[in-house]
Amino acid sequence: MVSSQDQKLIDEIKALAAKVNLDIAGAKVRRSSSRFCLGVEHGDYNGTELFGVGTDRFIWMAYKPNGTHKMRLYSGNFPDDGVVEFELGRVPDPQSAEMADTWARFPCGVDFILRREGLPLDKGMDAVLIGNIPGGGMSRSASLTLNLILSALDVNGIAAPDMMQVVDLAQMVENDYIGSPCGKLDQIMIAFAKAGMGTHYKPADRSIEYVPLGAGADDFRIMVMDTGTVRPGLEKSTYKIRRAECEELVAKARQAGFKISCLADIRDKSLFDQIKSRFEQDASHLVARMDYIYNAQKRFYEMMDAWKAGDIETVGRIFRQDGIGLRDDYVISGPELETMCDIVRTVPGVLGERMLGGGDKGAAGALVLADSAETAKQAVDTAYPRSRPAFADKYAVHTCKVVDGIKLFEDVL
Ligand code: GLA
Repeated sequence: MVSSQDQKLIDEIKALAAKVNLDIAGAKVRRSSSRFCLGVEHGDYNGTELFGVGTDRFIWMAYKPNGTHKMRLYSGNFPDDGVVEFELGRVPDPQSAEMADTWARFPCGVDFILRREGLPLDKGMDAVLIGNIPGGGMSRSASLTLNLILSALDVNGIAAPDMMQVVDLAQMVENDYIGSPCGKLDQIMIAFAKAGMGTHYKPADRSIEYVPLGAGADDFRIMVMDTGTVRPGLEKSTYKIRRAECEELVAKARQAGFKISCLADIRDKSLFDQIKSRFEQDASHLVARMDYIYNAQKRFYEMMDAWKAGDIETVGRIFRQDGIGLRDDYVISGPELETMCDIVRTVPGVLGERMLGGGDKGAAGALVLADSAETAKQAVDTAYPRSRPAFADKYAVHTCKVVDGIKLFEDVL
């Protein structure tokens, strides 16, 4: 079903296509969502289980074969980049300087990776896209990459590999072509998202389980508070440093004879205590990172039980505790993100709040009782511009619904 929001964006796409002379008559439209992670934030590259939902901020992309060997794409979000055009199989090298500042690195990366991985594209497509996912925290880049991969495979008549392989391919585009050291959280939470469900991922067997929120839960909202700041790529942020620190501690611990392969392997209290006392003196900052992962992983299972029981208050309380760990032990938050958290934390009915995603900048999130959502938004509207006048015209509050991750509309153009 095409909602009025979808229709509005499809109409915008039509107008953009006319403006840049791309023919999208009869094109399909693929819509890809954003995601909201309930745990363990920064757990994906540390080997923990993951839980999250798809949220209703999207990228819509109209696409159809153009009968050539070229890709021609236009994004309404990056009008200055104009129509991105390139010959399939002839893209700049990974991480080229010429690509650093244009969104063209995503479609070029998709062509590059699919070819490298034995799924070469030879049919070009015309595509026009537009999105309303804020940058930093809601996985805009993963949404775009998944959308491009699935659409390019469709145009080329290549049966999409199973969704977990698509997740892997999308991560390769970011890791190997773009140079972003992201994990798989974002891709998993978007690719598998289902309306009304939480997605539980277990790395041990790479399985997905859908977990509905337990009956009788208080009506609540997911709020995303975009600080208006711009987060540079993960390769240029604290994210990269934290990843390296986690790996460093694992390497040190292994050298000292502890049998672990990632921080998530430290589940047992006595193992945790031994590693802590061994490294606290020389590497207290690394121990602090472990502290966060250890405690967040313990809370994760409590959070899952609470979700299943419909106890959204506990889910919120754990979300808040995770936020404090991310701020103080993992040290991955940022001043504007914490301003947002501090503001909504004062509002009764806000169950929990924390930074979201990669860190430093971007968006914070909150779980809020439905009746308090408007008050929480008003609190932000009053306090945030006072605290952060530089972002008074740039911040935004999004109240989100839990939705399907990937949706295809046909016969709409
Ligand atoms: C970013 C990365 C993900 C994940 C989160 C933190 O969104 O892309 O892989 O590590 O940060 O949970």
